[in-house]
Amino acid sequence: MIKINLTINGKAKTFTIKPDELLIDVLRKEGYKGVKRGCDEGTCGACTIILNGRAVKSCILFAAQAHEGSITTIEGIGTRDHPHPIQQAFVDEGVVQCGFCIPGLIISAKTLLDQNPAPTKEEVKKALDGNLCRCTGYSGQIKAVLDAAAVMRGEK
Ligand code: FES
Ligand code: FES
Repeated sequence: MIKINLTINGKAKTFTIKPDELLIDVLRKEGYKGVKRGCDEGTCGACTIILNGRAVKSCILFAAQAHEGSITTIEGIGTRDHPHPIQQAFVDEGVVQCGFCIPGLIISAKTLLDQNPAPTKEEVKKALDGNLCRCTGYSGQIKAVLDAAAVMRGEK
């Protein structure tokens, strides 16, 4: 067993883990159930989190690789009563159906807007292209991210 330190949604935590334990498992065991398990092989994006400012897939990372890292999960982005503008835009646009893909999509969108507050449609598409959604067809989600960006810039 090894010890790792992670800061998750602003809280410093220490974990005692097996060296080959995956980050998704450590996070879900700790109660971050918004980190969804889909394909388990790095293709669907359901398990996406922000690690040190980058959107990464937690099912293909060993937890030990995140040692001393700063993580944001969907639990750290808005609440039911005070949703993040991206979450609000997804609801307003009606692009949450089964919902399984949504945490990963919101995380990828937030990572983009943190770095690029005024993305083009093509840049949004590129940022979301690692997140699969089987329900909605993507165009509304892309529009929701562009709308949220405008709100965050104070233009809406
Ligand atoms: S569960 Fe990680 S990419 Fe699909
Ligand atoms: S809303 Fe169902 S998979 Fe995206």
